[in-house]
Amino acid sequence: MKLTNERIDFHQLVENSLNSIWLVGEDRTILYCNKAGLQLLNYQSMEDVINKSIYLFLPKKIHSLCNSGLTRVMEFKDVIDRLDITILKNHGELAEVELMAVPYYSGDKVFAQVIIQDITDKKMAIKRLNDKEKLASLGQIAAGIVHEVKNPLTAVKGFLQLIKESQSHPYLDTMESELEKAFDTLQKLLQVSKPDLQDEPLVPISLCQKLNMVLLLFQEKMYSVEVELDLKDANRIIIGKKNLFLKAFFNLIKNAFEAINDQGKLKIEHYYENGLVHVRISDTGEGIPADKIKMLGTPFFSSKNDGTGLGLTQVYTTIHEHGGNITVSSEVGMGTTIHIQLPVKQI
Ligand SMILES: Nc1ncnc2c1ncn2[C@@H]1O[C@H](COP(=O)(O)OP(=O)(O)OP(=O)(O)O)[C@@H](O)[C@H]1O
Ligand SMILES: [Mg+2]
Repeated sequence: MKLTNERIDFHQLVENSLNSIWLVGEDRTILYCNKAGLQLLNYQSMEDVINKSIYLFLPKKIHSLCNSGLTRVMEFKDVIDRLDITILKNHGELAEVELMAVPYYSGDKVFAQVIIQDITDKKMAIKRLNDKEKLASLGQIAAGIVHEVKNPLTAVKGFLQLIKESQSHPYLDTMESELEKAFDTLQKLLQVSKPDLQDEPLVPISLCQKLNMVLLLFQEKMYSVEVELDLKDANRIIIGKKNLFLKAFFNLIKNAFEAINDQGKLKIEHYYENGLVHVRISDTGEGIPADKIKMLGTPFFSSKNDGTGLGLTQVYTTIHEHGGNITVSSEVGMGTTIHIQLPVKQI
C-alpha cells in the first residue's frame, strides 16, 4: 500500500520520534515537547516541561549562547546545525547533547523547532577509546623502560647487599629503601599500563564489602576526617577482578584523604539503580580546577610532590575494563565527587 501525504500521521511521527523535539516560543518557553524530549530530561509529566522556560533545562553558563542561537533562528530564519552543549536534567543530572534548530512557521509567527540527540554515551565511548589508545602506547613504552631500567637496578641492589654484608654505613639503608621505591614505581607503571597482564579470574564481588575492607586501612586518618557510609543494596554483586577493585578503591579513598588537608568529610555511597551499581566517593577537600578535570586518568598527571600520577590511571583502567563509567565533578575549595557506575552481569 502506498502512503499519500494525507494518510501520514505527522503528529505521530514527531511524537514518537526517537530524537527529542521541542518547539520553543519567542519568549523562550517550551510550547511542545515530544515523548523522547520528556524522557531525555528525565521528567514524568509533560506539565513539568510545557510552558516552562528553556533556561530551566540549561546550565547558566550557556544561557546567552542559546539565547543568541534562538534569536538567529526566530529573527533571522537561520538554521543551527549541530551545537554540542550540556543540558540539565531532573535532579540536577547533566547530559551531553547535540542540538539542531530550524525555524517553524505558524501563520505570521516564527518559532524554533529544536532537535536534540543525547550523545553522552557516544562521548564516553570516544573518551574510553582515546584513554585505551593512550594506555596502549604507554604500555609499550612502559614495558621498554621497565626492561631497560630493571636490569641495572637489580645489579645495583645486589652490590648494595654485598656491601652491607661486609661493612656498615649510615646511608646504606636509605639507599636500599630508595631503590625499593624505584622498583615499586616500575611495577605500578607496568600494572596500570598493561592491565591485560593481570589475568586475575573473574569472580562475584560485593563492592560494599571491598569498600569496607579498604576503609580499614585508613584508620588513623579517621581521627580528623569524618567518614559517612551510606551503603544501600549491599547484596548486589558484580562480576570482576577482585584485586583490581581493591586497588581502585584504595587509590580513590587515598586521594580523597589527601585532598582533605586538615579536617573534613568523606562520604562513600553505594546503591543500585537502572541495572547499574553506583559508587560515589565524595570529599570536602581542595577540589580540582575545571581545566585539570580532563587530565584525570592520564598517566603521570599529578599535582603532588610525592605523587606518581598513576593512581587514577589504575582506577580508570579498572572501571573501563569492567564495562563501567566514571565521572568526576569538583569545585575548587568545596570538594570532589567521583561517581562510578558498573553493570551488574550474570555469571
Ligand atoms: N579527590 C581529589 N581531590 C582533589 N584532587 C584530586 C582528587 N583525586 C585526584 N586528584 C588530582 O588528580 C591528580 C592525579 O591523581 P592520581 O591518584 O592519579 O595521582 P596522585 O594522587 O598524584 O599520585 P599517586 O596516586 O600515584 O600517589 C592528583 O595529583 C590530584 O591533583
Ligand atoms: Mg592518588
